[in-house]
Amino acid sequence: MAEFTETGAERPRRSCLYMPGTNARAHEKAKTLPADVLIFDLEDSVAPDAKEAARDQVCAAIAAGGFGRREIVVRVNAMDTPWAEADLRAAAASGAHGVVLPKVTGPDDVRAAGDLLDAEGAGARLWAMMETARAVLAAPEIAAAHGRLAHFTMGLEDLAKELRAEVEGQRTAMLYALERTLLAARAHGLGAIDAVYPDFSDDAGFAAACAQGRGLGFDGKQVIHPRQIAPANAAFAPSAAAVSEAKRIIAAFAAATAKGEHVATLDGRMVEALHAAEARRVVDFADAIAALQTA
Ligand code: COA
Ligand code: MG
Repeated sequence: MAEFTETGAERPRRSCLYMPGTNARAHEKAKTLPADVLIFDLEDSVAPDAKEAARDQVCAAIAAGGFGRREIVVRVNAMDTPWAEADLRAAAASGAHGVVLPKVTGPDDVRAAGDLLDAEGAGARLWAMMETARAVLAAPEIAAAHGRLAHFTMGLEDLAKELRAEVEGQRTAMLYALERTLLAARAHGLGAIDAVYPDFSDDAGFAAACAQGRGLGFDGKQVIHPRQIAPANAAFAPSAAAVSEAKRIIAAFAAATAKGEHVATLDGRMVEALHAAEARRVVDFADAIAALQTA
């Protein structure tokens, strides 16, 4: 499958939609939904006696195609299950862009999955789910475990259960895990996707969770229902005002450098190279989103 090369900017991953591997209706419907990423799930949403059938069904759906520019990702079963190896081989052969590895417990899981994908000659990048206490504590080592690793995804349902934490709207009990994972991701050049918000009827709660995740630095949100896609896309995209402000920053800094200066003033604020670089990232990201929409 083709890489996202329209602008050279990072591919948008504002909304990553899960679909149970056995839900053909969801797979079909996803072709019409504005999710940036589609995650075909072979793990928690598939019953143990349906694992093999789900694997075949997901590979057939990916082979049949029709998903446009959406990024195609398969969530396999965890490395300590009897299904992991066959799932990884099937995902590698399917041509999926990515593989989500759940219940990671340390760097060895990621190394083993990455080596297996290497041996299969897969194009898929690895996404490691951070949803165990051991994974969060080992985040820096996991982030450096394998060159194929591209993203961390937060799994707060499992983590909260293990910690016996109570997660309220502000996610206070989860902040350390969120921030530690994000720090490790950025320190190693990885993407980072925030956790699902299971109550898909709670629009206000979902919007607040998206705003918080965006503010913490996450690239997007894992979502479980079509209703969550548009709000996630909006929350994790730069606003029109932010894009025009970024263009003004770029212009102000360019005018300064044209005069041989390395610092500019805009609306009474200092603008340095780092501000211009961040503004360029915002504009490139907005262009990448626009490129997706013209698909
Ligand atoms: N992907 C694609 N389409 C979906 C969808 C999903 N994840 N969830 C719901 N839809 C579709 C339904 O098929 C329905 O479309 P249709 O009427 O055109 O057939 C429409 O959206 C409305 O669905 P709704 O009736 O509100 O939801 P539901 O009761 O059918 O399903 C869930 C609710 C939670 C079971 C379902 O959203 C789901 O399975 N989500 C993903 C779960 C998952 O993968 N979990 C693992 C990761 S945490
Ligand atoms: Mg889970």
